Amino acid sequence: MSDHAIERLQSEFRIVGRAAEARLALACLSAGRNLMLQGPVGVGKSVLAEALARHFARELVRVDGDERYTEQKMTGWFDPALVLKGGYHKEFFIEGPLVRAMRSGGILFVNEINRMPESVQNVLLPAMEERRVVVPQYGEVHAEADFQIIATQNPVEFVATSHLSEALVDRFEYVELDYQSFDEEVEIVRRNVRCTDGFDPGDLVDRAVALTRLTRDHPKVRRGASVRAAIGMVDVATQLGGGEDALAQAAMVSLLHRIEIAEESGLSPESIVKELDDEARKKKVRRP
Ligand SMILES: Nc1ncnc2c1ncn2[C@@H]1O[C@H](COP(=O)(O)OP(=O)(O)OP(=O)(O)O)[C@@H](O)[C@H]1O
Ligand SMILES: [Mg+2]
Repeated sequence: MSDHAIERLQSEFRIVGRAAEARLALACLSAGRNLMLQGPVGVGKSVLAEALARHFARELVRVDGDERYTEQKMTGWFDPALVLKGGYHKEFFIEGPLVRAMRSGGILFVNEINRMPESVQNVLLPAMEERRVVVPQYGEVHAEADFQIIATQNPVEFVATSHLSEALVDRFEYVELDYQSFDEEVEIVRRNVRCTDGFDPGDLVDRAVALTRLTRDHPKVRRGASVRAAIGMVDVATQLGGGEDALAQAAMVSLLHRIEIAEESGLSPESIVKELDDEARKKKVRRP
């Protein structure tokens, strides 16, 4: 995979870093494989997946997984009014995302695939393996040669995350995403915050990123926050005037609910955030 392809992906889709992961992911996709991007909340799975999918300039159909998604919604359905008048004619069939991507030889991007019910996951299996699906009342649909799936998911240890069936796991190549470096996270926040005229959020960004990263290392915090918390904090702190206390106040609305404290710690989230913010302020002088 050429450096040029990776640089193009980064610049065209405003992706910060991720060269190593992008190289692997592009290799999988160029090899005609189906790709899974897996990692904790907020590490940039969705933005990277979308960028990879668009990179190939092919038909792209995106689906966001949720518990109420149905097989019919995935494959397609017949227009009920027309069926009532004329029966199940092929021209009354409305393509769902899977059938559309298969027929056009495009990419089906399934965001948060493991939130989908197992029945929907099972519809994807024959499409990936035999490259065909059978749609009730319609018949068989075959995939064009280039049809591929890109999916994202949180690892299984995350709350409210269900297992992907083993059969489906076996049909993906997995690229893991972890948190990025301090400098990369600073750059991500800078690119994502809303600019307020004439206000440079410079110091706020460093402190918000340092504070967010500290939540991931604190021994009493079971799960720390992602860069998404830092983006929120800087936006809110900017609206609060950006002064010395603004970020501490913003942390209460942007950080508290995003961290999970170990139950036995006996500490309140507020006290931990306060302690970490004091530490982050000190770190402003020597960037971590
Ligand atoms: N490498 C990156 N370059 C640019 N922006 C990024 C990068 N990583 C994360 N972001 C930004 O951080 C935020 C979170 O990213 P994203 O939504 O892709 O995470 P995710 O892993 O899909 O999270 P979730 O598990 O909650 O779905 C977004 O605002 C995104 O634009
Ligand atoms: Mg996502």
